[in-house]
Amino acid sequence: MATKSTSGVVVTGGASGIGRACAQAVAEQGRAVAIWDLDPAKAEATAAEIASETGVATFGRGIDVTRTADFDAAIDATREAIGEIGGLVHAAGTVRAQSIGQLDEAGWDFVLNVNLRAFPLLVQALHADLKASPGASVVGIASIEAWVGNEAIPAYCASKAGMLGAVRSMSHRLAPDDIRVNAICPGFIETPMLAPSLAAPGVREEFSAASPMGRIGRPSEIGEPAAFLLGNAASFITGQSLIVDGGVLAIV
Ligand code: NAI
Repeated sequence: MATKSTSGVVVTGGASGIGRACAQAVAEQGRAVAIWDLDPAKAEATAAEIASETGVATFGRGIDVTRTADFDAAIDATREAIGEIGGLVHAAGTVRAQSIGQLDEAGWDFVLNVNLRAFPLLVQALHADLKASPGASVVGIASIEAWVGNEAIPAYCASKAGMLGAVRSMSHRLAPDDIRVNAICPGFIETPMLAPSLAAPGVREEFSAASPMGRIGRPSEIGEPAAFLLGNAASFITGQSLIVDGGVLAIV
């Protein structure tokens, strides 16, 4: 039988959408959570809400995950607030609609830096903490667009496909340290990031119809699998990407 995980989990992008749902699911398992987000007020408010709903220790921290120089101070403050850190979810993410013909270096770097570059650098910064926490686990939130091309967002697709490469590489290096590394590839999920697309005429219907389940996913439907991958129930799963899309890719 799987033993219960008790260590705390850092969730980047934890103040909104999928990241918030991951933090909530982890807290519902009785684990402490740290919400790291670009928006400090929202990070603190979300941490307070989750603490009052679940009774676990929480911590909210404003951080830009592209600013690697800020990682160590954030880790120290997190350890002080919630104790042992045995998990990371990198859910902070961004998208820019710049197809070929519209691409510029700043737009490309912006998306790659948040979605991809921050991920292994965060794992590296947390390595000592994760190594000291038995059964530690890391989850990157990728996308089905790691697998299928979307002509409007090449940087986003590259960042998410790159994340799967980083997952495989890090899972190899970190397995001897008892740290597992996996990714989740969500399909269409009802979050603030997707809201502008869903507001356009016909798009909600189109995205819903892409799934044989005929609907868009809820953030909790990513949060729960993330909590599973973070916990000891997934103790022999590493280097994998789990597609959670209501079957979209099954029928493409
Ligand atoms: P969201 O916009 O609701 O949440 C993203 C969070 O990341 C926000 O709280 C934002 O402040 C934070 N963030 C952005 N840049 C940051 C930075 N530089 N440093 C720290 N925090 C930063 O979006 P959503 O939908 O919850 O997205 C979460 C992840 O899931 C993203 O990586 C996204 O690419 C991925 N995803 C979302 C899908 C969807 O349909 N909503 C589908 C597939 C993947």
